[in-house]
This record gives sequence, structure tokens and C-alpha cells, in this order.
Amino acid sequence: MGGGCGWRSSSSSNSFCYVCLLVVTLFCGAVFRQSLSDPSDEACLTHLSQSLQDPNHSLQNWTKSTFANPCSGFTSYLQGATCNNGRIYKLSLTNLSLRGSITPFLANCTNLQSLDLSSNFIAGPIPPELQSLVNLAVLNLSSNRLSGPIPPQLTLCAYLNVIDLHQNLLTGTIPQQLGLLVRLSAFDVSNNKLSGPIPSSLGNRSGSLPRFNATSFAGNKDLYGYPLPPMKTKGLSVLAIVGIGLGSGLASLVLSFTGVCIWLKITERKMALEEGKITQLMPDY
Ligand SMILES: *[C@@H]1O[C@H](CO)[C@@H](O)[C@H](O)[C@H]1NC(C)=O
Ligand SMILES: *[C@@H]1O[C@H](CO)[C@@H](O)[C@H](O)[C@H]1NC(C)=O
Ligand SMILES: *[C@@H]1O[C@H](CO)[C@@H](O)[C@H](O)[C@H]1NC(C)=O
Ligand SMILES: *[C@@H]1O[C@H](CO)[C@@H](O)[C@H](O)[C@H]1NC(C)=O
Ligand SMILES: *[C@@H]1O[C@H](CO)[C@@H](O)[C@H](O)[C@H]1NC(C)=O
Ligand SMILES: *[C@@H]1O[C@H](CO)[C@@H](O)[C@H](O)[C@H]1NC(C)=O
Ligand SMILES: *[C@@H]1O[C@H](CO)[C@@H](O)[C@H](O)[C@H]1NC(C)=O
Repeated sequence: MGGGCGWRSSSSSNSFCYVCLLVVTLFCGAVFRQSLSDPSDEACLTHLSQSLQDPNHSLQNWTKSTFANPCSGFTSYLQGATCNNGRIYKLSLTNLSLRGSITPFLANCTNLQSLDLSSNFIAGPIPPELQSLVNLAVLNLSSNRLSGPIPPQLTLCAYLNVIDLHQNLLTGTIPQQLGLLVRLSAFDVSNNKLSGPIPSSLGNRSGSLPRFNATSFAGNKDLYGYPLPPMKTKGLSVLAIVGIGLGSGLASLVLSFTGVCIWLKITERKMALEEGKITQLMPDY
């Protein structure tokens, strides 16, 4: 009986120890998670706060001490940031009168799924380094002052659903490769300074993929091709240049022909005169 009791008590002390271990593990895990800062998120946020300017002081808690620990599990301590399992996974800083530029170090927020910096005054280029954001599904940089090209490297963000770059100062052509993004369901580059042909992979419906209508491309002076009209005939189009070439060629042909005719007429007259003189000089027999 005593043995059975002893065994029972040892069993209960065993389970007590297991509970102890569990509590200690959970506690340590919590402490560990609290104190373990993610160095890449920290680099990302530190550089982003340096490259953006916030004249209206909208970004609360965006201080050096918070960047080391922006998240606790699913809780974020930074305005505009959302956390998932201790990592930044969403940044939504819209309509905050932000200025400055987008740092290439944003690519260090490697768990980022959604980046929305729309409706600010952010200038400078879209960093091609964003290609490292392999989980990125939403990229909304619309209504800013971004310039330079649309980086073709964005094609490497294979999960992109949304690319909204409307109302900026972007130049160059639309990268052909963006048509390879099979998940793309929203694409808007309207009201920029883009030029060249619209890639047929974005303009045309191909297979079952949803593609984009004229609204997505409007307001770019030199963008052309379906679903926009074909090449604009503003200024000197190819046709006009060919026309001018042909016209001037014909004109010079007519001119030189007339010239030759006149020259021939003159020489003919001269010859006639000469002939007349000769006949006059000829002695009569
Ligand atoms: C940030 O990204 C750069 C380039 O991708 C890399 O070289 C650097 O090691 C990263 N920094 C951290 C702290 O992860
Ligand atoms: C700023 O941080 C404090 C504590 O660290 C937190 O209570 C507060 O909610 C944070 N503010 C924002 C806007 O997240
Ligand atoms: C943007 O912010 C300004 C000032 O806070 C506000 O008046 C305006 O309604 C906001 N616009 C949108 C679209 O939220
Ligand atoms: C920022 O401040 C400017 C001037 O003080 C003001 O016009 C603007 O509405 C503010 N923007 C926001 C988003 O509060
Ligand atoms: C991007 O942001 C703007 C302004 O915040 C919003 O109006 C627009 O709907 C967003 N684009 C997409 C595709 O959600
Ligand atoms: C796109 O589709 C339109 C209408 O279906 C067609 O006229 C045009 O030739 C196509 N363009 C390309 C480049 O496939
Ligand atoms: C273009 O497509 C969008 C949805 O993707 C739709 O809301 C809009 O009405 C369309 N515009 C035209 C001119 O067809």
C-alpha cells in the first residue's frame, strides 16, 4: 500500500515538475521574445524613419528605442505598423503629409506583406531592392512625387496582388516582365510621365488572367498601344517624317528637272545663235 502511495506521490511530483518546466519554458519564451529584437526589422525601421520626413509629427513611437522592439507577438508599438508573430508584416502610412524618400533598407523588413505609403509627398525613386520582399502582396505608393523608372525587379515579388503607382512622376517604360505576375488583380500607373508601348501581357486579356483597362494607363503623355490608342500623332510622327521626306524628294526632283529644262532651252538658243553667227560669217559662194 505504502509503495503504491509512494509511486503515486512520485507521479504527482513528476507531473508537478512537468508543469514547472512548462511554466518556466513559457516564461522564458515570453521573456526571450520580448528581449529578442529582429535585427533586420530594426535596420528597416531605423533607416525608414531617417529617409522619411514627418513635419506633422504623425508617427508616434517612431523612436530608436521602439525600433529594437516594435512588436510583441501580434501587438505593434509603432503607429501604422502591424505585427505578426513578432515581425512587421504591414506598414500603412497614408495621408500623413510625409516627405523625404523611400530607403532601400525597407527591403530588410523581409516579412512585409503590405506596404501602403499612398497620399503623401514622398519623392525620389522606387528602390529596386524591394525585390527582396518575397512575401509582398500589396504595394500602394500612389499619390506621391516618386520619380524615375518602375523597377522591373518587382517581378521577383511573386505574390504581388496590387501594384498601385498612380499619380506620381514616374518615367520610362512599363517593364514587360510585370505581366508575368500571375496574381496581379489591381494595377494602376495612371497619371505619371511614362512612355512607350503598353506591354501586351498587361493590356490584353490572355487566357483566364484578368488584365487591365484604359483607366490603369490614362494620363501618361507618351504611353500608347491597346487599351490606349495606337502611337499618338502629336508632333512629328513616323508618318509625318516619311511624308516630309517624300515631299521634299519630289520637290527637289521637280526643281532639278525644271533646271535641266531651262538649261537645255538656253543652250539650244545659244547654239541657234552661234549657228546664225557662223552662217553669217560664212562667205557666200
Ligand atoms: C539589410 O539588407 C542588406 C541588403 O539586402 C543586407 O546586406 C544587410 O545585412 C541587412 N541588414 C540586416 C540587419 O539584416
Ligand atoms: C506607443 O508605445 C506605448 C508603449 O510602448 C503604447 O502603449 C502605445 O500604444 C504606443 N502608441 C502607438 C500609437 O502605437
Ligand atoms: C487626409 O488628411 C487630411 C488632414 O488630416 C484630411 O482633411 C483629409 O480628409 C484626409 N484625406 C483622406 C482621403 O483621408
Ligand atoms: C500637415 O500640416 C499642414 C500644415 O500645417 C496641414 O495643411 C495638413 O493638413 C497636415 N496634414 C495632415 C495629414 O494632418
Ligand atoms: C491605394 O491607396 C489609395 C489612397 O489611399 C486608395 O484610394 C486606393 O484605393 C489604393 N489602391 C488600391 C488598389 O487599393
Ligand atoms: C490586343 O487585343 C486587341 C483586341 O482584342 C487586338 O486588336 C490587339 O491586336 C491585341 N494586341 C496584342 C499586342 O496582342
Ligand atoms: C476598368 O476596370 C475597373 C475595374 O478593374 C472598372 O471599375 C472600371 O469601370 C473600368 N473602366 C472602364 C473604362 O472600362
